[in-house]
Amino acid sequence: MVANWKMNKTVGQSLAFVREWARQDSRPPSPDGVELVVCPTLVALWPVARVLEPLSVAVGAQNVELGREGALTGGVSAYLLAEARARYVIVGHSERRREFGEDDAVVAAKALSVVSAGMSAIVCVGEALDARERGGTRAVVEGQLEAVLAALPPAPAQLVIAYEPLWAIGSGQTPTPAEANQVADWLRARVVARWGDAGAAVRVLYGGSVSAVNVAAFLSESEIDGALVGGASLQLDQWRAMAAAVPPVRNA
Ligand code: PGA
Repeated sequence: MVANWKMNKTVGQSLAFVREWARQDSRPPSPDGVELVVCPTLVALWPVARVLEPLSVAVGAQNVELGREGALTGGVSAYLLAEARARYVIVGHSERRREFGEDDAVVAAKALSVVSAGMSAIVCVGEALDARERGGTRAVVEGQLEAVLAALPPAPAQLVIAYEPLWAIGSGQTPTPAEANQVADWLRARVVARWGDAGAAVRVLYGGSVSAVNVAAFLSESEIDGALVGGASLQLDQWRAMAAAVPPVRNA
C-alpha cells in the first residue's frame, strides 16, 4: 500500500502526520507480510524516513534524475535517494509523463537506475480516456510496460507495477475492480513472458481515486496486490483505514 503525497505537505506537516501515526499505531496497522510505503516530497523524505523506520514503514521518492553525482543542477539521483533511506521510487507517473515530457525511454532508464541502486521501482502505466473508449487500454499499458521490461534485468522483487488509468486519477471515477483486475492480469502475463515463472511474483497495484470506501473491493481481486493512493492518503484517518483493509498476503 503506497501513499503518494505528490506536491503536498510541508516538512512540518509531513512530520506531524507520521508522528501522530506512530503515536496511534506502535506497530504497522496491517497484517503480516504487507508493506506500507509513504512517498512524501523530496524535502521531507529523510526526516519522515527517520520517524517511520521503527514502524517498519518504508519511504519512497516520487521521482529520480538519471546519473549518480555531478553537474546536474536540481537533480537528485537514485544513488542519493537510496542513501537518504528511500527504498522505493515512483517512476512514470502520468503527471510526470504529461507535465515533464517523460516518455517511455526516460521512464525505462529511470526504472533501471532505481533498481541498480538497490531500490524498487514503482512503475506507473495507464491509458487516457479516449484510449479506453476505443478499446485501446491493453495496447497502451502493455506498450508502456514493455519499454521498462526491455531495460531491466529480471528482478521481480524490485519491480512494482501500478495500473493507474489517467481518467481515474483525482477524479472520483474508477474502473470496476474486475476491469482493473483484467488489466493487472495482462500486465503480470507480460512480465512472465519476459522473465519466466519468477515474474509472476511481481506486485501489481491499482491506483486512481482509491479511498477507504473502495479499497477493499480492489484488493479482493486476485491479480491486484495493493494500491497506490494519492488524495486519500493525505488524511491520517483514511490512510490508517486503508492500511488496515489490506488482506493478509497470499502465498507469503
Ligand atoms: P488519486 O491519485 O488517489 O488522488 O486519484 C493517485 C495517483 O495519482 O497516484
